[in-house]
Amino acid sequence: MKITYHGHSFVQIENDKFSIVIDPFISGNPVVKTPVDKVKCDYIILTHGHGDHISDAVEIAQKNDATVIAMFEIANFAAKNNLKNHPLSIGGGFNFPFGRVKLTIAHHSSSFPDGSYAGDPAGVLLYIDGKTIYHAGDTGLFYDMKLIGEMNNIDYAFLPIGDNFTMGIDDAVKAAEFVNAKITVPIHYNTFDIVRANPEDFKKKVDSIGKKCEIIKFGESINI
Ligand code: NI
Ligand code: MN
Repeated sequence: MKITYHGHSFVQIENDKFSIVIDPFISGNPVVKTPVDKVKCDYIILTHGHGDHISDAVEIAQKNDATVIAMFEIANFAAKNNLKNHPLSIGGGFNFPFGRVKLTIAHHSSSFPDGSYAGDPAGVLLYIDGKTIYHAGDTGLFYDMKLIGEMNNIDYAFLPIGDNFTMGIDDAVKAAEFVNAKITVPIHYNTFDIVRANPEDFKKKVDSIGKKCEIIKFGESINI
């Protein structure tokens, strides 16, 4: 299985059968290297309605005939755009052909770029090929991350570190401790000036609490 970090919150998970993208934000994303028409996917998981997460989702879904998996309100938005979709809500999961997706809480807001209501923001648990991946979405630190960690044997946790709209480094280090993943990967940083953070600082601090952090450079992949 291959995981690619495209920058911001855009994470792609691929095995020999499926390609799944989470929050594919490309237009207006200065760090992403893959153009919209090069994204190949079967499923698109969206954590919340903000433009830096969903702005390219309709086009990518149309081009790939992909299924949008998201909170009920965002799935309805996908339906209005004639996209295949599967609604979920917080705490609920579903077994898809590629594996299981379950939504978690995230402390943030969620509206569409026009300001209309997009339901609650979410984090994502993805169970695929015997691995468990947690993508926290946009969120502040919350104590239930400990519960998420205790109830799931998480292999890879993607945690935002960019501050301002999400956790900053120190809170994200605490989150890494709570989630207790085998590997923590920082996301949602250095896309814009307002979310500047040094991933090396984060890595040092995660290392210092005895946990493992791996920085995946924008556009690079790891095989797991
Ligand atoms: Ni957001
Ligand atoms: Mn965001």
